[in-house]
Formats: sequence, structure tokens, C-alpha cells
Amino acid sequence: MHQWYKEATDETQPLLRRGRQLGHIRIGTRPSGNISNASTIAHQWHHDEAVLLPGLLREQLPDAACDLQQTEQWVSNILQGRFPSDCLPERDSHPRFVLSSCSEEAHDQQAIEKMYFDDQLAADDDEQPWCKVAWLSFHDDDASLRFRFSFGMEGFEDVAARPTMQASAADLCSALFPESRLITDHAQLNAWLGTILADQPAYVERIVYFNAPDGGAQMHHDVERGHAGVVYAQLSGHTFWLTASKPVLVQEIMRFCRQHENLATALFDDVESRRAFTQLVSDQQAVATLLDEDDHELLEALMDRHPPFIGHMVAAGHAHVLAPGDVLLLPQRDLAHCVWHTVFCLGDIMGEALSFAVRAAA
Ligand SMILES: [Fe+2]
Repeated sequence: MHQWYKEATDETQPLLRRGRQLGHIRIGTRPSGNISNASTIAHQWHHDEAVLLPGLLREQLPDAACDLQQTEQWVSNILQGRFPSDCLPERDSHPRFVLSSCSEEAHDQQAIEKMYFDDQLAADDDEQPWCKVAWLSFHDDDASLRFRFSFGMEGFEDVAARPTMQASAADLCSALFPESRLITDHAQLNAWLGTILADQPAYVERIVYFNAPDGGAQMHHDVERGHAGVVYAQLSGHTFWLTASKPVLVQEIMRFCRQHENLATALFDDVESRRAFTQLVSDQQAVATLLDEDDHELLEALMDRHPPFIGHMVAAGHAHVLAPGDVLLLPQRDLAHCVWHTVFCLGDIMGEALSFAVRAAA
């Protein structure tokens, strides 16, 4: 089991996110032997538990070495200030997707560039799939970035209602990142998810992540209509995760607050926030309701910025460490049951990861 420490020791690694020190982790022994069987995986999924599949891609990773190297070169060029479209890797001499236009997305401060592609297989009235490259934060020391694939108007489109367009955007991801097949062509993974979904899995709304030291993601969920959950695959580098379904997260928040006196004073400088927090955590339902709000700053102060809460979650068994070849399944049944998660980059290496939503193909 992983262990959390307030101070560093010889055996710990720092949990650092955007300049904020959130303690140190001593990584426990990796689960060994065979990966869980199909029924255990399905049971965990249907009970809204994150499913860690250690080393699932380890055998296939060497076959993707060339693709990973090309990707690394691409990202390195972007980090040196080139536009992604200026240094697109040439992966295919007769590409199905042809770069058509680019936008610097001036309205979005985190965006680097959005590239629109013509899909040679598209029907006349289909929209163009796009790939948007963006920084994950504004923090100077966080070089994390992501490539997101979708279509249509960002934030407005009901993507699940357009499965053909979703498939086109997904195939664009496979064209630009051929290492996508580590997930999409994995017979065992497809079989497990096939059982869970009672249908073939379709990997849609794809994101290719590069989590850099000092980067990561705050506690969040990924519920989206029509999607059953998220498949995350670590291809290089290491990440540290906390995961808990919404009801479990609420319980842990309540338990932690009961165990810690003067918590509001430790979390907030101003009297008003202290009062609001104390009132909030006296009511479990109010905590559950606030989590669903876009603005839940009162809880972010606890979940994302208070080191002892990270320690509490680790001690309660909600931590995972992902190494290259590991896969993590995150069921996202609905707002009331979805698996919330937070991510840290471990170590000095910016790692590549695939994060694909999964839905029943039909
Ligand atoms: Fe997520």
C-alpha cells in the first residue's frame, strides 16, 4: 500500500502541483501476478470503482516505440515554441485526414492551436474533425499540454448524438497518434469492456496527455452524456492518482472534517469563508450538492490544496501509481455515482498518456 508523508524521506517522492507542495508519497509494492479476471473487473466497474490494470500494455509497448519517439519529437518541437501544425509528424504517405486550416484560438488563453482536418471518408454535410493543442495551466513551471480530438462547436455540441462524427474525430486521433492502437486494438481490454457495456466499445472524445513535473489535474469527474467512462493508459512517465466515486468522496470529506478541529481556520484566511465552510460540512447533502456545482471553491480548498486531506485519502486506500504500460478504468455512470479523480506527475519526466472516453458502439 502507498503511504503519504508530510515531510520528505529517502524513500518518498514529492506530490507537487503548480508550485503547491501536497506532501510526499512512498510507493508501495506493485500488484504482482495475473491481472484481475473479467468478473472482478466488471464487478468493480459496476460498483463505481476505478479499476487499475497494472502492466496491461507492457507486452505491446515495445511495438509502439517508433510512434512514441515521433510523438516525443513533435511535443518537443511544440515546447520549443513551434506551432503544432508546422511540425506535424509525417506518418502516412496517403493520409485519410488532410490538414485544412488552423486557428490560434485567441479567445482561449490556454490554447496553442486548433487544427481542422478534411476527412477523405466524410459525407458532404459532415463537419470537420479537429485537434486542439492546449496548455493544462498558466503556471510557469508546468509544461503539461494536451491534444484533444472532437468536432463541431466546442462546448455546445451534443457530441454523443453524432456517432459518425465522433468516430471521425477518434480516427483522426489514431492517425496523428498511431500509439492509440495500444488501447483500441487490445483484444483483452476490448473483451472486458465489451462485457461491461454489453456491446463493442467505441473509444471517443479522445485526449492525449503530456503530464509534466509540477502539472496534473485537480479533483474532477468526466461525466458526459452517452459515455460510460474513461480508459486512461500510461505510455511513458509516472502519475499518482486519487480516485473515489462521488458517494465515497463525500463520505471521506465528512469523515476527515469530523476528525479535524479548526479545519476552517487552517483552510481559509477570511472569516466569511471559514463560516461558510463550517456550515457546509455540517450537512452531508450540502457537500454532495456543492460538488456538482462548477464553482465548488470551498471544497477545492480542502480536496486540492490541503495536504493532510491527500494523506487521508491515501491512508483510506484511494491512491494509485501508474507506470508505463498501466491502464486505469474510470467508470462515469452519472453525476451521482461517477468516479472523481485527481492526478499528479511523479518523477522528473514528462510522460505521455492516452485518455479515451468509452461508449457502447451501437
Ligand atoms: Fe479526468
